[in-house]
Amino acid sequence: MEICISRGFLVFLFSWVFLLGCAGKEPMPQGTAEDVKEPVLLADVAATDAFIRAAEVVVIGFFQDSELPEASEFLTMVQNVQDVLFGFCTSSHVLSHYNVTVSMVSLFRVVDNKRQDLEIRDSKEIDATKLGRFVRMNELRWVTEYNPLTAVGLFNSMVQTHLLLFSDKSSPNHTERMDKYQEAARLFQGKILFILVDSQAKGNDRVMSYFHLKKSQLPAVALYHVPDEEQDVLPLGEVSLEAMKDFCNSFLQRKQVKDNLELEDKLIKQEL
Ligand SMILES: *[C@@H]1O[C@H](CO)[C@@H](O)[C@H](O)[C@H]1NC(C)=O
Ligand SMILES: *[C@@H]1O[C@H](CO)[C@@H](O)[C@H](O)[C@H]1NC(C)=O
Repeated sequence: MEICISRGFLVFLFSWVFLLGCAGKEPMPQGTAEDVKEPVLLADVAATDAFIRAAEVVVIGFFQDSELPEASEFLTMVQNVQDVLFGFCTSSHVLSHYNVTVSMVSLFRVVDNKRQDLEIRDSKEIDATKLGRFVRMNELRWVTEYNPLTAVGLFNSMVQTHLLLFSDKSSPNHTERMDKYQEAARLFQGKILFILVDSQAKGNDRVMSYFHLKKSQLPAVALYHVPDEEQDVLPLGEVSLEAMKDFCNSFLQRKQVKDNLELEDKLIKQEL
């Protein structure tokens, strides 16, 4: 199953994927027998490296052998999970370059520069549904939409300060709001994770009430610091880049001062 793909093809493929991404999240046509969604076959380190760098989130199935049951579960999962770029690799050279010794599904994401691995030691323990859940949980993006699965991934990130935008996705101003929010997200890479909470989605009422927000106050943004649960809320007439930058910077500064005070405290106590 070793099929070489040229760099040119990769570039073409990715520009196509980006176009799809920019066009919004239209549901992909359902695969028919002739129209099966296939992962990109990765045959060497350079192609794999380029593949990993090409999107916000990519997922690669690394298997010693394409006949393994977990490889076939992976291919089934690829059919069912939309909007994610999948790669498939059985080259022993590439596997060893990426330190893979057992079957492994690895998710690479840009937003916090993280590789998340799912090791498969027992084929019987894993199926397409579980693999899909692993992907859905960990697919954090520049702006991650909040839901019960991404909540887990967000919570597990090393980046412990979260900014939540509460917005009605069906509002005519939502797209423009998201453009500015996406732009701000890039300014705070590695410092703050940007999250979208759709105010109309079922279950998100609880998130809003946690921040004492009412629908009439939206759009609004809220900052949340996971370790001490400190929060700060800013209702916005409309989302502006400047307002978000100021809000985030002053929160980060406050956290920094607090952390320094706590560190000093600790040092003084140690000296005494
Ligand atoms: C493989 O592991 C080594 C040693 O832990 C590490 O230095 C290297 O960066 C890893 N390779 C990749 C591609 O992650
Ligand atoms: C959309 O934004 C414009 C300009 O900021 C504002 O005047 C208008 O009320 C907004 N519309 C909605 C439905 O929020």
